[in-house]
Amino acid sequence: MSMRTEAASLALAGPGEAAQLVGLLRRCYGRFFPFPASLSPTRIRRSIADGEVVYAVARDEGDERVVGQAALERTSAAGLWELNRAVVDETVRDRGLFGQLGRYLLTHALPGVGGRYVYGHVVTSHLHAQRFGLATGFVPTGLILGYLPREMVAAGIERPRQDTSALVMVRRSEPSPRPRAVTLEGDDRRRVLEALDALEIRSVSDERARRRPRTTSHTSFHDDVRAVRVVLGADASTSSATTPAAVEELGGRHRARLLWVDVPIEHARAAELVELARRRWPVTYGAYLPNAGSDGEDILRLQRYLVPTPLDRDAILVVDEARGLRDAIFAEADAVLVGAVA
Ligand SMILES: CC(C)(COP(=O)(O)OP(=O)(O)OC[C@H]1O[C@@H](n2cnc3c(N)ncnc32)[C@H](O)[C@@H]1OP(=O)(O)O)[C@@H](O)C(=O)NCCC(=O)NCCS
Repeated sequence: MSMRTEAASLALAGPGEAAQLVGLLRRCYGRFFPFPASLSPTRIRRSIADGEVVYAVARDEGDERVVGQAALERTSAAGLWELNRAVVDETVRDRGLFGQLGRYLLTHALPGVGGRYVYGHVVTSHLHAQRFGLATGFVPTGLILGYLPREMVAAGIERPRQDTSALVMVRRSEPSPRPRAVTLEGDDRRRVLEALDALEIRSVSDERARRRPRTTSHTSFHDDVRAVRVVLGADASTSSATTPAAVEELGGRHRARLLWVDVPIEHARAAELVELARRRWPVTYGAYLPNAGSDGEDILRLQRYLVPTPLDRDAILVVDEARGLRDAIFAEADAVLVGAVA
């Protein structure tokens, strides 16, 4: 399947094109790019063949060189896909290629892989990708502070003065989503309900919950962005894997930059788990992610940026529609950290 545009033709990439995909990423990011899976032709070949990643590529007029790419990568077995690895060669920018690649994936690839939700960690170093998100039905549901190390510099984009935060944007493709029984409280509840509302997903009272996640607590380490991820479930107060000491040890061993604590939003004890997380670590609101848990449960991601140099809020560029969210996330993180130091 392929489609011609002004100066380039779009198509889905096969496993044999892995080396060209890597070539484009290297031309854009030079030596430092934190996601090793997208720099290894072997891993790309395997992941395309296994259906774990789908790439759209744009070729220039000669139909030889790949000049643009964007991918959908499976995040969970429950139909959540991440739109990522979006790069357009510096020589062919501002012609609408990125928008076309993104739309092509949403139309031609997503239905075939059973994608029910798509999300992106959308950079805040420029607004192009955020505008594309708004134009195609993505909704901002959070901001991950300092997501990308500042050493990651894209050709043609201003060198970042601090780690690049990412706006989390979510899009629903599922025609009739399951109503959610949100058991969170306070501001977390309000923010998640706002996100559900914007995504046109119904929320129902606890009693009508169709499914109560029984997630068990565990931790993992995300090597690429150096994040410790803690998932809190029913056994949170007794789980040895998620004690503050165990988490600190894991983070210290890997020189973690980020701490994420995930709480299933429909867990019967979600509000209590959030309380526990806030008591154990100064974590604050991060983002809402549908179907992101290992059992397909929706999660609230709480976060803490572990790098001691504070982030400058005003250097984090967001579309007007996300400014309130950005500022609220900052205000909350500031209040908690000041409180923790005092
Ligand atoms: C972000 C990136 C992929 C955009 O690629 P691109 O092909 O230049 O993007 P587009 O052309 O679709 O959109 C860029 C701008 O051109 C405009 N544009 C779209 N179609 C156009 C056309 N036919 N003619 C002229 N301008 C056009 C868009 O309106 C957009 O303007 P905006 O800044 O107001 O949103 C590219 O800059 C890049 O590779 N950056 C480095 C990697 C990166 O940041 N990736 C995103 C990670 S989330």
